[in-house]
Amino acid sequence: MQHKHNTELDATFLDWPVHMQRALDLADSVLTAAPNPRVGCVLVHDGQVISEGWHSAAGADHAEVMALTNAGRDSRGATAFVSLEPCAHHGKTGPCSDALIAAGIARVVIPMQDPNPEVAGKGIAKMEEAGIEVIMLPDFETAARRLNPGFFHRIEQGRPLVRMKLAMSLDGRTALANGASKWITDAASRADVQRLRAASSAVLTGIGTVLTDDPSLNVRRDELGLSEAQLLSNELNLQEPPLRIVLDSGRRMPATAKMLGLEGQVVVYSTASADDSELRDSKNVDLRVAGSGDRVELQTVLESLAADYQCNDVLIEAGPTLCGAFLQSKLVDELVVYIAPKLLGSDAKPLLELVGITQMSGAPEFQIVETQQLDSDVKLVLKPLANPRFNE
Ligand SMILES: NC(=O)c1ccc[n+]([C@@H]2O[C@H](COP(=O)([O-])OP(=O)(O)OC[C@H]3O[C@@H](n4cnc5c(N)ncnc54)[C@H](OP(=O)(O)O)[C@@H]3O)[C@@H](O)[C@H]2O)c1
Repeated sequence: MQHKHNTELDATFLDWPVHMQRALDLADSVLTAAPNPRVGCVLVHDGQVISEGWHSAAGADHAEVMALTNAGRDSRGATAFVSLEPCAHHGKTGPCSDALIAAGIARVVIPMQDPNPEVAGKGIAKMEEAGIEVIMLPDFETAARRLNPGFFHRIEQGRPLVRMKLAMSLDGRTALANGASKWITDAASRADVQRLRAASSAVLTGIGTVLTDDPSLNVRRDELGLSEAQLLSNELNLQEPPLRIVLDSGRRMPATAKMLGLEGQVVVYSTASADDSELRDSKNVDLRVAGSGDRVELQTVLESLAADYQCNDVLIEAGPTLCGAFLQSKLVDELVVYIAPKLLGSDAKPLLELVGITQMSGAPEFQIVETQQLDSDVKLVLKPLANPRFNE
């Protein structure tokens, strides 16, 4: 790979950060391209942007191919700014490095290698062998990683990024004693949750929530709060709803559950000793086993979601029991908490079943990474801080 100081490159280098940022912004216009990463591409010739591309869904053209198609013959001799190393392998579409070579691209500028072992430097090597100058802009690596945290998580750690959504009252309650929970938060928060769902590979809940609320856990495009233009760039991935996952150790899930009648796949994880299920003949249900103990093994579920379903991001929307169990197992990477300015009182149900914290030094702690007011509610995004004394 070429490692040149910027000033040795050419007179247009001052614009490079602008083009790279635009490639990142194009990628960011898509909610998800799972299992693929979100990628954007800008083609520049003689200092002028000649075309742009982005990857809108698995199976759709990759960002580089879309930009090359838009540019046509003008791409010969151009520079391509791509938000991730162009791929070198055949997936649902052909390798982007081959397409860039065939189009006569002179230079490719990227922020980082693709960590996917099928690519990981092979795209760069292929292009360099063909005479393309490949330049790395490492200042953009952090931003490039932030675009696809779930993808990096799956590839590098063998399990999806786990995001837990919690909606609660000011006094940390999630439902009245009689189970009523509609609605604690307002419409703006619920639209935000819809966007979180649409950006996730899977939405996961517990059998307790299924039996109490009979949720759909689907994406409703009219509730996403997206503009027509945003809906258009996400059209393809909205046609592929996220998987719905239910953790149901004893196979209590009824065949009448609302989510089974909706479009999209449902996966039910149970334990090895669970009885046969009345769902065994349902065509949109996968019945899987995760563990042989009393309850479904959470780590096994996550490994299966990565290996069997290529899930990058899982959104947990469960009740206090399962949410507590995930936190207790230290398997949560991010919390998204919606706080409604109302009180449900001490008869109402708590946010989490989390027992055994007897000392302040053993309390799980979080770092707030985002705060936002959404209409009347407040949204917090938090990352768990490692506390070796929690749950030891
Ligand atoms: N405010 C919110 O954000 C929100 C979101 C969703 C639900 N809710 C509320 O939560 C309430 C339901 O709460 P819930 O606690 O009964 O439901 P839950 O947490 O969704 O489901 C709990 C069930 O998950 C199953 N499970 C499977 N594997 C498990 C494991 N490893 N560890 C723990 N549990 C496991 C258990 O049943 P088995 O042992 O039979 O498998 C357990 O009883 C409802 O009132 C609902 O409205 C609130």
